[in-house]
Amino acid sequence: MDGKVALITGAAVGIGAAIAQSLAHDGHAVVVADIDAAAADETARRLSAEGFDAWPLAMDVGNADAVAAGFAAVREKYGRCDVLVNNAGIAKTYAFLDYPMDHWDKVMAVNVTGPLICAQHAARLMRARGWGRIVNMTSVSGMRASAGRTAYGTSKAALIGLTRQMAIELAPFGITANGVSPGPIDTPLTLAHHSQATRANYARSIPSARYGTTYEVAGAVSYLVSDRAAFVTGHILPVDGGFMAAGLLEI
Ligand SMILES: NC(=O)c1ccc[n+]([C@@H]2O[C@H](COP(=O)([O-])OP(=O)(O)OC[C@H]3O[C@@H](n4cnc5c(N)ncnc54)[C@H](O)[C@@H]3O)[C@@H](O)[C@H]2O)c1
Repeated sequence: MDGKVALITGAAVGIGAAIAQSLAHDGHAVVVADIDAAAADETARRLSAEGFDAWPLAMDVGNADAVAAGFAAVREKYGRCDVLVNNAGIAKTYAFLDYPMDHWDKVMAVNVTGPLICAQHAARLMRARGWGRIVNMTSVSGMRASAGRTAYGTSKAALIGLTRQMAIELAPFGITANGVSPGPIDTPLTLAHHSQATRANYARSIPSARYGTTYEVAGAVSYLVSDRAAFVTGHILPVDGGFMAAGLLEI
């Protein structure tokens, strides 16, 4: 990977940790960025113990000053950032009529504004080398409405729009921007928030009839940040067991 540096937000656990592992395996130095400093330390230590170049970074993507400080630290340590994976995201479900506005504001700050600010900082470093890859972790909930996801679904739809905006404005600098839209994946997030009813409903609606794995999502990211994906930009890739393709599932 020619010393390429990849920064992954929300990389301490779940999908982000699998992406950090996958990109480290592909030969990147990985910056394990997370709001949970202790968990980021632990994940970076585990990757380093496996012989990879991994560095923990405490960074809250919902705080513009923290993001600026985080990228300044990356610039000082590595002098470059070639890959950004905007993976950090939060979710909680409430019925539409009872949707609490403080939650709406928080979700938008972390799931939409955070990726925008991270991408601005990263793209300035990428532009200096004429090469860059941005992958935004969107969701099938940004492509189809699902119950209780007023803020989450809307934030992911906004992130899909933002991905296309990044793609057209950053293409002249050799930077691609794409989205990966997972269906339900087994992670700490879904363990905490998916009820038995949600799980049963997904199993009925997904042709593959199961939750995906973090490994399967990380594989899509590995492809999109590779040299072979240089002509793929502004694309949203569902990793969803066929959920987006599905209509009636029985004859
Ligand atoms: N798990 C799924 O089924 C699923 C499906 C579609 C999309 N996604 C998206 O994938 C991403 C990762 O999901 P996950 O299931 O691994 O989540 P998770 O909750 O299991 O892990 C998220 C990580 O992000 C960190 N984080 C939270 N807020 C942060 C902030 N403000 N700044 C920096 N780090 C922060 C957490 O500390 C945690 O380490 C999210 O954007 C989520 O919306 C997940």
